[in-house]
Amino acid sequence: MSNTTLPALAIDGGQPIRKEALPIRRLFGEEEKQAVVSLFDRAIAEGSHLLGYNGEQEVAYCQAFVDFMGGGFADGVNSGTNAVYVALRALEMEPGDEVIVPPISDPGGVMPVVMCQLVPVPVDCEPDFYNMDPAAIEAAITDKTCAIIVAHISGRPAQMDAIMAIAKRHGLKVIEDCAQAHGAKYHGKPVGTLGDIASFSTMFGKHHASGGQGGIVYTRHEDLYWKVRQHADRGKPFGVEDADGNVAAGLNCNMDELHAAIGCVQMSKLPGRIQYLRKLAKRLEAAIAPLKAIRMVGDPVNSEGVFWFVVFHVDFARLSIDKVKLLAALGAEGLTFSGSYLHSPMVWPWFKQYRAFGNSHVPWPKGDARGIDLPNVKVVDREHITCKIHEAYTETDVDQIAEALVKVESVYFK
Ligand SMILES: Cc1ncc(COP(=O)(O)O)c(C=O)c1O
Repeated sequence: MSNTTLPALAIDGGQPIRKEALPIRRLFGEEEKQAVVSLFDRAIAEGSHLLGYNGEQEVAYCQAFVDFMGGGFADGVNSGTNAVYVALRALEMEPGDEVIVPPISDPGGVMPVVMCQLVPVPVDCEPDFYNMDPAAIEAAITDKTCAIIVAHISGRPAQMDAIMAIAKRHGLKVIEDCAQAHGAKYHGKPVGTLGDIASFSTMFGKHHASGGQGGIVYTRHEDLYWKVRQHADRGKPFGVEDADGNVAAGLNCNMDELHAAIGCVQMSKLPGRIQYLRKLAKRLEAAIAPLKAIRMVGDPVNSEGVFWFVVFHVDFARLSIDKVKLLAALGAEGLTFSGSYLHSPMVWPWFKQYRAFGNSHVPWPKGDARGIDLPNVKVVDREHITCKIHEAYTETDVDQIAEALVKVESVYFK
C-alpha cells in the first residue's frame, strides 16, 4: 500500500473510529432485584432464617448449576478464592505437600495453597498462551507433589487430556480453577467436569454472578462433595452419620441465601450469554483473520472457550512500533486494549519474598526458587495484548475493535 492510501490514525490527528465509551456491564436487572426483594419480603413476614445459609435458595442455585454441568454436586461459597481454598481442604493434603499452580492466574487462584500450608510450585505456561504447559507440569513433579491447580485463563480451556494423563500417571489430584471459564467446553465436556474437583468465582465481573462476591465448588464425586460441605462450614458433620460434633477444622465460607437467589436468576441467563459471547468472539476473529502481524488466540482444537477476555498475539517484528505505541494508537481510536495479563507469582512480592506467615518462610522449603523465573511467561507477556468483550457489546462494537486493529496494522506494518 502506498503512503497516500494509508488511513490517518487518530493518534496522528485523524478521525477516531469510535467517539463514545464502550458499553459498561449491566449484569443485574429487574429479575435479580425482584428475587432479592421477594426473599427479603418473605424474611420479614416469615423469619430471618430465610436470609441465612444452606437454605432453599442455595439448594436451587446449586441444582441449576449442576444441571448446567450435566450432573455432579455443587456447593455455594462466598468467593472464588474460597472455592479454591475449600477444594484444597477437601482433598485433605498434609502441610508441606506440593501443589503445582498456574504461572498466570488471579492471586485468589494461588494464595489459598499457601493458606493451607501447602507449597505452591508455579510452572511455565504454553509457549503462546497463558495456560499451563503440560510438559512443564510433568517436569515439576517431585515425591511431595499431591495436586495440580489448572486455571482456564480467559475462558480458554487448558490442555486437559495431557494434564489428566500426567495426573493419572503420578497419582495426583486435579483442581480445575474455572473462575474465568463458566461453560467453556473441552472436547465436548464442560470444564470443571474433567478434574477431581473445580472452583468457580461468581463475583460481579464473571460470566454469571451471585452478586458482588461468590463462588461455587463443584465435583462429580459424592465423597468429595461431603468434604467440601464440611470444610465450607466450620467442619460441620455433613455426610457423616452419628458424628459427635464438628468433624474438621474449617472456616466459614458459606454463601448466603440472598446471593444464592441472585445466582438462581443468573443461571437462567448463562447459556444464552455464553452463546452470544462466542458469536461476538468468532465475528472478531473472522474480521481480523486477514491481518499479518496481529492474530486473535481462538479456541483450542475441539474446544469452545468463553472469552472472559480476548487475547491477541502480536508479531512485533512485523510492525514498526512497540507495544506501548500500539496500545496508544488503539486507545486513540477509542478502543481500549490492555497490554498485559501478568497476574503471576513471578511479580507478587509475597511470593518472591516467601512471606505468608511472618518471617517464618512457611510453607516453602528453604532455598526454594521454583516458579521465580518462567521464560514462556515473559514471552507471552511481551507478545500479547488483550481486550474485554461482554454481553452488553453489540456486533458494531466488536466490528469497531476489529476495525481499529486493521487500521493500526495497516499503518505500522513493515
Ligand atoms: C482464575 C481465578 N481464580 C480465582 C479467582 C478468585 O476469585 P474471587 O475474586 O471470586 O475470589 C479469580 C478472580 O478473578 C480468577 O480469575
